[in-house]
Amino acid sequence: AAIKTYQFDIQVANVSRLCHAKPIVTVNGMYPGPTIYVREGDRLQINVTNHAQYNMSIHWHGLKQYRNGWADGPAYITQCPIQTGNNYVYDFNVTGQRGTLWWHAHILWLRATVYGAIVIMPQQGTPFPFPQPDREEVLLLGEWWNADVEAVEKQGNMLGLPPNSSDAHTINGKAGPLFPCSEKHTFAMEVEKGKTYLLRIINSALNDELFFGIAGHKMTVVEIDAVYTKPFTTSSLLIAPGQTTNVIVRADQIPGRYFMSARVFMDAPLAVDNKTATAIFQYKGIPTTVLPSLSQLPALNDSSFALGYNKKLRSLNSQKYPANVPLKVDRHLFYTIGLGMNSCPTCLNGTRLTASLNNISFVMPQTALLQAHYLNKKGVFTTDFPDRPQTTFNYTGAPLTANLKTNTGTRISKIAFNSTVELVLQDTNLLTVESHPFHLHGYNFFVVGTGIGNFDQKKDPAKYNLIDPPERNTVGVPTGGWTAIRFRADNPGVWFFHCHLELHTGWGLKTAFVVENGPGPDHSVLPPPKDLPAC
Ligand code: C2O
Repeated sequence: AAIKTYQFDIQVANVSRLCHAKPIVTVNGMYPGPTIYVREGDRLQINVTNHAQYNMSIHWHGLKQYRNGWADGPAYITQCPIQTGNNYVYDFNVTGQRGTLWWHAHILWLRATVYGAIVIMPQQGTPFPFPQPDREEVLLLGEWWNADVEAVEKQGNMLGLPPNSSDAHTINGKAGPLFPCSEKHTFAMEVEKGKTYLLRIINSALNDELFFGIAGHKMTVVEIDAVYTKPFTTSSLLIAPGQTTNVIVRADQIPGRYFMSARVFMDAPLAVDNKTATAIFQYKGIPTTVLPSLSQLPALNDSSFALGYNKKLRSLNSQKYPANVPLKVDRHLFYTIGLGMNSCPTCLNGTRLTASLNNISFVMPQTALLQAHYLNKKGVFTTDFPDRPQTTFNYTGAPLTANLKTNTGTRISKIAFNSTVELVLQDTNLLTVESHPFHLHGYNFFVVGTGIGNFDQKKDPAKYNLIDPPERNTVGVPTGGWTAIRFRADNPGVWFFHCHLELHTGWGLKTAFVVENGPGPDHSVLPPPKDLPAC
């Protein structure tokens, strides 16, 4: 196995988009940041040096970091942030994983501009389980704000209301020609008739689930969240913040210019759509003066497309890539997802929006949870996060204003090493129903079931897919519905679990699992690296 090293300089760069120029925080002055190329089995050492005025931490989204949460990155969960002028080397092995993942800042809203792709090639001599493509391309879907993103975040914190939403979606940092001053900020990918392409698509947007499609072309989905899937063909795909999707596309149409578009999927009330990003699927030799054809994407609020699409996602579950779904469950968890209002003395009108799991809105600690856990330091967190809600109610029925007030605390759940966990996530109609992409650090999980309405403990488990459910690290809980996941808690440490909509994370839609050490030194959290940042 090789050691691959990268230098990440966190620095401010001036970038202009949509006729607005502003300084943004970047890695090495690049927006989006550099792609990390690594091979399964390699060791990565990424030296992050912070030259910006903000504290920084970087998360390697989807990398399992076995026993090594020190390299995971979420600020105040596994490490204290890297302060201005300091550096930290994220040092970790890439084992048992191959495919597309990504990295992003995991502090404040800085991931708006601090993000990039991670491409893990299979081991030498191991082919893909699908025909080898002629070429590949990374497509990072993102969001652009004309205003300073930290100012937007602060405005939300002060008002206690949702801050301004972004001004455009982007593909590889570019919004495309449908926006003012953006003709020159259009990503184009050159293709040749008859060749096949592997597209590594990543949703790095802060707050929007997205549809993606290429005019006139079909895509074959072969991988999600760095796990191979049973291939299926589709003209549009759906991807939530945090998720990745690999597709194979054949340039099999009349040579021309075709739009690739990314547009929001939002079936919550009051959704709007004016931010569609476009890029160009450009056949070689076609002059750039030719107008591109527009792609057809499902309607903004097409929940039936969303449900149907998610049902098609299946693990490959082949002999070489088996799906080891836990069949017996040691620990049953049931978490309700709620939005609510809480009092907020520092907010302009004395209240603010909050978000909660089991009516508990998570309070960020002042020091990293993993350190507190490792050093057995008391008073940083409590392990009394409830396994189920305190009160049961008609979750997706009429909202109960009595349930709007939430409790707060740095409360997390303790999980026994190697136990199997089932977690049902139930959306509720407190304030409003909305879809939530939940991400678990340190693990992949199997999505064994999903449905609309209230989860039915008697009937729904019988319908679970325990054969070839999709395995991933981020899953959408449908608007007004539920999702059931299973995983084996074989990775000791403290692992963040949160909604990957930055807005909701900020409002407290998060908790963590502390997975205890297993027997013997080989199943315990590794000692912390010497350069681990201090708070
Ligand atoms: Cu991609 Cu905790 O996040």
